[in-house]
Amino acid sequence: NNTIINKGENMSQDKNIDPQVLEYSEKLTRLGIKHEIITHPELKNARQTLGYFNLTMSDGVATLLMKGNDKFIAIVRRDDCQLNLDKIKEIFGFNSLRMATPEEFVEITKLPVGTARPYLPGVSTLLDQRLFEKESLIGGSGSFNCSIKYQTSDLKKIPGSKAAEVSFIDKEKTILEKGTKHRVFSGCRPTARLHIGNYLGAVKGMIDLQNRGDLDCLYSVVDLHGITTPYNSKTFQSQIRAIALDYLGAGLDPEKCHFMIQSQVPQHVELAYFLGTIYPVSRVEQLPTYKDKKKENPDYINVGLFYYPILMAADILVYKAELVPVGLDQEPHLEVTREIARKFNSMFGRTFPEPQRFATTGEYIPSLKGEGKMSKSVEGSYILLTDDLETIKKRLAGAPTDSGRGSVVPKEGGVANLLELVRLFEGDKGYEGYVKDYLGVGIRYSELKNELSEAIYKELKPIQERRAFYEQNPKLVTEILEQGRQYASQIAKATLTEVKEKMGFI
Ligand code: TYM
Repeated sequence: NNTIINKGENMSQDKNIDPQVLEYSEKLTRLGIKHEIITHPELKNARQTLGYFNLTMSDGVATLLMKGNDKFIAIVRRDDCQLNLDKIKEIFGFNSLRMATPEEFVEITKLPVGTARPYLPGVSTLLDQRLFEKESLIGGSGSFNCSIKYQTSDLKKIPGSKAAEVSFIDKEKTILEKGTKHRVFSGCRPTARLHIGNYLGAVKGMIDLQNRGDLDCLYSVVDLHGITTPYNSKTFQSQIRAIALDYLGAGLDPEKCHFMIQSQVPQHVELAYFLGTIYPVSRVEQLPTYKDKKKENPDYINVGLFYYPILMAADILVYKAELVPVGLDQEPHLEVTREIARKFNSMFGRTFPEPQRFATTGEYIPSLKGEGKMSKSVEGSYILLTDDLETIKKRLAGAPTDSGRGSVVPKEGGVANLLELVRLFEGDKGYEGYVKDYLGVGIRYSELKNELSEAIYKELKPIQERRAFYEQNPKLVTEILEQGRQYASQIAKATLTEVKEKMGFI
């Protein structure tokens, strides 16, 4: 029930299209950029959107907001292409270049993260030459419910844009559409109990993928990553168990996926060592995740922490996994993983795929404290999957609010975060109701928080019941983990043999 709407006179009468998209479409028309609006159900990323229309990654166009030195630029490239960052730096004369953070993205584009569109007024735009090999491409519209089919030659009419060849074709990006059984890997550290950020950003995606039935899903408690920040060795095993129970309670189904403990498959560490020898120190030092952890624990900056992204790459590559369901915060680590895969392949011959992130609707869950993301390491920022109704109410009671009404609904801070949780747990209708109240009669936060607590608890209750079942059957859990270990080991061993052969050890 998706409609392709030809750009025509009376399009603005179509009630289903986000007015922001219509406004954007009008701007494109004024610039002479031919296009069509395509409506569809909410789709979160290029792979999902193109897959929905039975298209391949070479039919999509992505807009990447980047920051070079102190300037924001937009790079527009095809979805099956990887950027040559050095070339872009050279063109703009930058000595540093990185992706914009989600916060920067929202500030500059005023669009939800994940909906970037090629024309971003005021931002210099570089069009990758490969775009023009295709007559038209499907790309972002600023809304998750619409895409836009652009006539590529017209993209050159974007003010302040120039074209240059800055990409190469990434064959792996098209791979998931074809035949064989593809592999999925994801993991979670046993640093604290799972919170609803972990659940919405990662575990829900893991469940979606296991339920597809055509993928080989391996999921893990990544205990070795858990010791890079301060931890208690005495309680560590029970901590790992607790996370395993959280996972099983949340819906990981041992009939549909393999579930294991990272340290029980020693090939992860072995591969990490090999991969570490081909990856530059300087690149790890630049990672925002590494910098953040250094700031969080200034007295605990250990070599293990530095090795974190390499071990994560090894976790994924040891199984040659192609899809990784994780939250938005893990994207820099996936970029490292792809870089390592590419480097290894170019040095020793084709071995690894370049894995992609599988995004969920809740890929970035904000903190209850009104600033930053929900995080295990920030007390007061989270709601745990094991929280009862009273605890949820108490935690939400601490979330900052305002007077409850105003002429503009806040886009960030405590109120914005509460409304985001409303949207995720009570749906668009609930969200829109509160937005209307905010702009009109005013929101009574005690009521909002009460309703939200109930909605969250409603989703958590069956999780807690399933968790209790596994908690009462510890032998079953041990068996599940042992089966997972065995299954994972045979794949990991085969990869290590191949890597050692290629690197000259066998
Ligand atoms: P960890 O343990 O910090 O978090 C587990 C998962 O939860 C997601 N997540 C969030 N998603 C949305 N909103 C939030 N506020 C939020 N907070 C956490 C994370 O993105 C993650 O998916 N490095 C990984 C663990 C790891 C891993 C791997 C993951 C190690 N090796 C291999 C995948 C594949 C991490 O720190 O997760």
